[in-house]
Amino acid sequence: MDFRRLAYLILCTFGACSASKPNFVLLFADDLGFGDLGCYGHPSSLTPNLDRLAAAGLRFTDFYSTCPVCSPSRAALLTGRYQTRSGIYPGVFYPGSIGGLPLNETTIAEVLKTQGYATAIMGKWHLGYGAKGKFLPTKQGFDEYLGIPYSHDMGPCHNLTCFPPDIKCFGYCDPGVVTVPVVHNDNIKQQPANFLELEKAYSDFGTNFIINSVKNKQPFFLYYPSHHTHYPQYAGSGAAGRSLRGPFGDALLELDDTIGNLMSTLAQTGAINNTLVFFASDNGPELMRMSRGGSSGLLKCGKGTTYEGGMREPAIAYWHGIIKPGVTHELASTLDILPTMAGLAGATLPPVMLDGFDMTDILFKHGKSKREAMMYYPISPNKTYGLFAVRLGTYKAHFYTEGAIHSATTPDQDCPGSASLKAHDPPLIFDLEADPSERYPLPLKDRPDVQAVLEQIKNVKAQFEATMVFGESQVLKGSDPNLEPCCNPDCSPKPTCCHC
Ligand SMILES: *[C@@H]1O[C@H](CO)[C@@H](O)[C@H](O)[C@H]1NC(C)=O
Ligand SMILES: *[C@@H]1O[C@H](CO)[C@@H](O)[C@H](O)[C@H]1NC(C)=O
Ligand SMILES: *[C@@H]1O[C@H](CO)[C@@H](O)[C@H](O)[C@H]1NC(C)=O
Ligand SMILES: *[C@@H]1O[C@H](CO)[C@@H](O)[C@H](O)[C@H]1NC(C)=O
Repeated sequence: MDFRRLAYLILCTFGACSASKPNFVLLFADDLGFGDLGCYGHPSSLTPNLDRLAAAGLRFTDFYSTCPVCSPSRAALLTGRYQTRSGIYPGVFYPGSIGGLPLNETTIAEVLKTQGYATAIMGKWHLGYGAKGKFLPTKQGFDEYLGIPYSHDMGPCHNLTCFPPDIKCFGYCDPGVVTVPVVHNDNIKQQPANFLELEKAYSDFGTNFIINSVKNKQPFFLYYPSHHTHYPQYAGSGAAGRSLRGPFGDALLELDDTIGNLMSTLAQTGAINNTLVFFASDNGPELMRMSRGGSSGLLKCGKGTTYEGGMREPAIAYWHGIIKPGVTHELASTLDILPTMAGLAGATLPPVMLDGFDMTDILFKHGKSKREAMMYYPISPNKTYGLFAVRLGTYKAHFYTEGAIHSATTPDQDCPGSASLKAHDPPLIFDLEADPSERYPLPLKDRPDVQAVLEQIKNVKAQFEATMVFGESQVLKGSDPNLEPCCNPDCSPKPTCCHC
């Protein structure tokens, strides 16, 4: 690291950043598993841009999201707090959901706004829409938004055309609700979304945002939660048919192309040396979609479960000239992104109970993580059951296990929904370094060392749970079909008349 850069980072740490605060580009894939990228061992994925970031940046092997489904995982990413605190459980928001991420939660965008950042998001929000769009990103610190505010299968997608255009998408999603809208800031711009041109719209939006921010000499934060590679996969003409891996591979390639466009814009505008780019995924692969479901590689099960395949994710940090290339085995999480970016921007942390740790030692020194443990809540957490599993150092103990419909179709009988809730007393304990696939529980009998680890884990669990105040569930507030986004609000009959 050159001296000026180091001095600058030190100044930042003490809240005295100069005009050139670092920029942040946060890339977040959807249902992309630990084994889905070429740089994580997938043989037929085509992701030249992500592979380049991994080769020239820092690749994580032990990086976690906080939940094996979308909305809670996204809430934790943006707030640096477990989703139980903000009330984003059980499961996810729907188009007509009454609730959303509470407006008094502080997001990364709000933290950075205090430091004069320009902020934008493109893609999948999935933290609520609500009456008159009251939970949209523009209410949570983002200056601009372009995207579908929830999962793109939350609509009648049996007519969603993929390439070649005469082939209808696989499956049929959610009939009976409005077709998926594309929202620009607070307004519906298009309904139904034209998926074949959506990625180009994102790419243009993102590159223009970077160009304008640089022109205005404003530090910027671009958050790109992609719809890719969530089911049903789609790809425009630029990516369709180009990968070896079929529709899943094409969707992934389309995401990768956009990342390439953002990177070349950073280079062309001269922002590249002052920008931290961070890539991760919200949760594990949706194995029930079979060859279109993604891969957790050697990890056990996938989406919906608290096994490693549900929550351990690919992650890459890249900062030209600042982050040295390499691989880290340190424990880190989406929870750690808010404190890290806040520190680099010279912002104070929100005055709430945070669950994240500053990652700068890992990023800039290939040093040790401040994080010792990772907590695993199921999709439907509650106070009675509490945590399903805890990882402390390299050991993970499962107090409860449960399969999930999202992880169906695998030969492993612990993964599908038919594997019902099981309490483990004593807990199942694994050494994740020796046994990353969670196949061989360590014996406790005649093993005082393992017994000691288990006691430590139980203490960490009890201490953590003593701090956990469950926020009121925003998902259990339910749904109202009248709240489904409609570009023609007074039309009838709904939902079919919501077509513009
Ligand atoms: C937000 O408001 C709710 C309801 O008043 C409260 O229970 C919660 O603690 C607040 N959250 C934060 C982060 O301040
Ligand atoms: C889907 O296509 C069928 C037949 O082409 C049509 O009747 C139906 O209205 C379409 N649905 C939507 C939501 O566009
Ligand atoms: C970025 O840093 C490299 C050296 O690592 C330098 O060659 C290049 O000119 C810098 N780019 C800008 C836009 O400052
Ligand atoms: C708590 O969660 C468990 C596991 O998901 C569930 O079986 C149980 O019914 C829940 N209990 C309550 C009181 O909600």
